[in-house]
Amino acid sequence: MPPINPFTPEFGSVPLVMAGRQSIRRELFDAFVQGRGNPNLSSILVGPRGSGKTALLTYLGKEASAQGWIAVHSVAMPGMLEDIYEQTLLASADVLGEGKAKSLRLTGIGVGPVSASWEAAPAPSENWRTRMGRLLSTIEDAGHGLLITVDEVVATLDEMVTLAAVYQLFVREQRRVALVMAGLPHNISALLNDKSVSFLRRAQRHTLGTIPDADVREAFKETAAIGGKDVTDDALEACVRAIGGFPYMLQLVGFRCWQATSTDDVISAQEARRGIQDAQEDFRAHILAPTLRELSEIDLQFVEAMLEDERESRISDIAKRMGVESRYASKYRSRLLAEGVIEQVARGVVRFALPEFRAFVREELGA
Ligand SMILES: Nc1ncnc2c1ncn2[C@@H]1O[C@H](COP(=O)(O)OP(=O)(O)O)[C@@H](O)[C@H]1O
Ligand SMILES: [Mg+2]
Repeated sequence: MPPINPFTPEFGSVPLVMAGRQSIRRELFDAFVQGRGNPNLSSILVGPRGSGKTALLTYLGKEASAQGWIAVHSVAMPGMLEDIYEQTLLASADVLGEGKAKSLRLTGIGVGPVSASWEAAPAPSENWRTRMGRLLSTIEDAGHGLLITVDEVVATLDEMVTLAAVYQLFVREQRRVALVMAGLPHNISALLNDKSVSFLRRAQRHTLGTIPDADVREAFKETAAIGGKDVTDDALEACVRAIGGFPYMLQLVGFRCWQATSTDDVISAQEARRGIQDAQEDFRAHILAPTLRELSEIDLQFVEAMLEDERESRISDIAKRMGVESRYASKYRSRLLAEGVIEQVARGVVRFALPEFRAFVREELGA
C-alpha cells in the first residue's frame, strides 16, 4: 500500500495542518471559552474563493464543540431556517441524549398519537423563533451553547434577514448563542449594506487574506511529514513561492508534488517543478477562470490597465491608462477590492490578490 496523500485540495475539507490564521483561531477560541458577551461570538469571515472560509467554519465548529457548544452548520439558501432547526434537533439528540431530544420534538409538535410519531413532519404551528427558542432553552439547561454557522452568505435571501433578526433577539435575551458567517467579499458587502440586517454590521469581521510564507513553509513541511515524506530545502522554497500564501494553492501544490514523487520519500526540486506545474493548471481551471468570468466589462478594463505593471499598480497610472479621472478609477477599485480580485498595498497602490492572476489574464486576453 502506497502511503496516502496527506494534502486535501478539495473545497471545504479541513486541512491536516492549518497554515496561519492564528489570530482568528485564538480570538474565536477565547470567545467560546468566555461565552456570553464576547463580541467574536458574532463573526463574519470574508475572503475570496479558496481562502479557507469553509474549512475554518468546520474547524471553529469543532473548537466550539470541545468547549461545550453544539455546532450547527448551514449554507445560505432557501430552506436554511428549517435546516438549522432540524440540524439543531439532531445535534442536540447526539449531545443531550436521544430521549431528551425526542420528548422535545414531541412537545414541539403538539398533541395526539398521530402527530406525535417521531418520523412525522407536521406543519409547524409555531414560528421559527419560538421553536428555536425552546430548543435553545433545553440546550442551555443542559449546560451547552448553540453555535450556528452560515456559509456562502448571499444578501438576497429573506431567510438571512430572519436569521439575523431572531439571532439579535436571542442575544438580547442573553442566551448562549453564537453566529459565525462566511462569504465572498462582494456578497458580504452587499449583505451589510442591507438596512434590514444593520445589526450584523456590528459583528466582528475577519478577513482571510494571504498567509505569510513562513507559516506556509511550516505547514507544507509538516503535512508532507505526516504522510511520511521529507522535502528538500530548494523544493520547499519553490513550492512556497508558487503557493503565494493562498490556502487552496498550498493543498494543490502539495498534492501534485506528492503524486510526482509517488515512490520516493523525499520531494526534490525536480519533482516539485512537475508538481507545481500540474498544480498551476488545476488552479487556473478551478479559481482563475471562474473569477475572470465573473468580472464586469468595467472591472475588466481596470484589470487590463493593471497588466502593464509587474507587481503593483498606482491608481493614478491606471486612471491614465483607462483615460478616466482618478476618482472614477477609485470607484472601480472598490468593486474589485470587494470582489477579492485585488488588494490594497498602500494608499493609492493595489495589486492582484490571486497568485498568477496577471499571467492568466494576459493569456486569456491575448494582452
Ligand atoms: N489555513 C489553511 N492552511 C492550509 N490549507 C487550507 C487552509 N484553509 C483552507 N485550506 C485548504 O484550502 C482549500 C480551500 O478551502 P475552503 O475552505 O474550501 O475555501 P473557501 O471556502 O474559502 O472557498 C481546501 O483544500 C482546504 O483544505
Ligand atoms: Mg467555501
